[in-house]
Amino acid sequence: MSDSKAGHLAIYPGSFDPITNGHEDIVRRGLSFVDRIVIAVAYRATHEKRGLFSIDERLEMIRGVFRDEPRIEVAAFDGLLVDFARQQGAHLVIRGLRAVSDFEYEFQMALMNRQLYPKLETIFLAPDVRYSYLSASLVREIASLGGGVEEFVAPLVRERLEARFREGAR
Ligand code: PNS
Repeated sequence: MSDSKAGHLAIYPGSFDPITNGHEDIVRRGLSFVDRIVIAVAYRATHEKRGLFSIDERLEMIRGVFRDEPRIEVAAFDGLLVDFARQQGAHLVIRGLRAVSDFEYEFQMALMNRQLYPKLETIFLAPDVRYSYLSASLVREIASLGGGVEEFVAPLVRERLEARFREGAR
C-alpha cells in the first residue's frame, strides 16, 4: 500500500463537475490516514465538451478548494484509472459511499479495477451525514434553476456556477 519514496499515497478519482462539499469532506477524511492524495479528474479526450465545466475549470476549482493543503495534488487523467494509478505508483483508491444505492456500482468498479490491477485496493469512506444526499448533478440542477447552493459547494465554486448559468448554460 505504500509508495516507498513518499509515504502512503491514495488516488481520489471522479468527475468533479463541480467539486462539492461532499467531495471535500471525503478528501479531508482521507488525509487523516494517508500522507498524500491525488485528486484525479477523469476525462475522455474525445468527449471533452461534455459536462458543465471544462476539465481545466474543474482542476482550477479543486486547487482553489485545497489551496491550504500541501498534501493534495490535482491531476486529470484520460483512460483507465488503473493505468493512472500505476503511473502514480499508487495502490489505494478512495471513493465515497453515500447510500446503499451507490453500493452496487462502486462494488462493481472496485472489483473490476482489482481484476485489471490486482495491487489496487479501493476503500470506501462515508461522508458526514450532512452530505449523504448531495451530488454534483443535483447541485448543477439546483444552480441552473436559480436555487441557492451555498450549503453544498465552496464559495469559489458557487461563483463559477452562478456565472456559468448567467452566461446561459443549461
Ligand atoms: O464521479 P464519478 O463520475 O462517479 O467517477 C467515476 C470514475 C471517474 C471514478 C470512473 O468512471 C472511472 O474510474 N473512470 C475512468 C475510466 C475507467 O477506468 N473505467 C473502468 C472502471 S472499472
